[in-house]
Amino acid sequence: MARDTALDSAALLCGDAVVLGDNLEVLRQLPDACVDLVYIDPPFNTGRTQAHTQLRTVRDAAGDRTGFGGQRYATERLATRAYLDRFDDYLAFLAPRLEEAHRVLAAHGSLYFHIDYREVHYCKVLLDGIFGRDCFLNEIIWAYDYGARATRKWPAKHDNILVYVKDPARYHFDTAEVERIPYMAPGLVGEEKAARGKLPTDTWWHTIVPTNGRERTGYPTQKPLGIVRRVVQASSKPGDLVLDFFAGSGTTGVAAAELGRRFLLIDNNPEALRVMEARFAADGIAFARHDMTGTTGAAAELLVAAGGA
Ligand SMILES: C[S@@+](CC[C@H](N)C(=O)[O-])C[C@H]1O[C@@H](n2cnc3c(N)ncnc32)[C@H](O)[C@@H]1O
Repeated sequence: MARDTALDSAALLCGDAVVLGDNLEVLRQLPDACVDLVYIDPPFNTGRTQAHTQLRTVRDAAGDRTGFGGQRYATERLATRAYLDRFDDYLAFLAPRLEEAHRVLAAHGSLYFHIDYREVHYCKVLLDGIFGRDCFLNEIIWAYDYGARATRKWPAKHDNILVYVKDPARYHFDTAEVERIPYMAPGLVGEEKAARGKLPTDTWWHTIVPTNGRERTGYPTQKPLGIVRRVVQASSKPGDLVLDFFAGSGTTGVAAAELGRRFLLIDNNPEALRVMEARFAADGIAFARHDMTGTTGAAAELLVAAGGA
């Protein structure tokens, strides 16, 4: 993949695209209100060691990078430090990215933020500050039943998905498009209702990605297509643009393509790009590739998550 020298955001927004690069840098170059739905599943606060490299770019006609307006920049590496993925660093990493997510969302748009039960409370407070409490729509519990069982506490078998809307008076939400699910006690509701099924509530029982099914890509943090499909069905329309800037194995791209939405996916891990390419090729999904690892703004901090999610 050739490196792009500057982001052509118009090209990114009109079709299906995958960008290799730091999501903050890419998000900052997108126009306001250009996205209809955001689903993100950021790396959790894992406690693993991360490498934090601080870069400064200065305008220099002989520099190695090209930024906005074709200006040339030289990059100076200020410091690299390894640190434990501590909680305060994690929120500091998320905050500017969530602010950008809020900015690029259209007035009718929604954000689905997928997170681990240990972090969700702090992220809720962060998101309340960015979106406003009145824009909080739901906390979805994705419940599964797989893996080892703790015996010294209740086994934790769920993830949380926080849902925020840009404007509580204008957001798009269409339950008629959502696949219905079987009643738990169909005998209690009558034949007709039982045959139609019921709308999911804010608690979603869904298996993890099957360990040896076709859906499995081998990407360690892959999320089930069934979860993301439901998000896309309810909170976007055909033709809309769906953004996932922690794209991983590209689950959001597959859901969007299946449902006739456009997608913009960003990940800074070349392995994620390789997995997406193979997955989309197998599903016959065409997309444009962009490599934005060679461009930065006038001053940049690149956070390299050595441990991933
Ligand atoms: C939990 S995974 C997402 C998994 C995805 N939902 C799926 O179904 O495969 C998080 C992803 O965020 C990516 N990531 C972490 N920091 C990033 C950054 N600053 N910019 C872009 N991507 C980043 C990681 O490479 C990883 O692929």
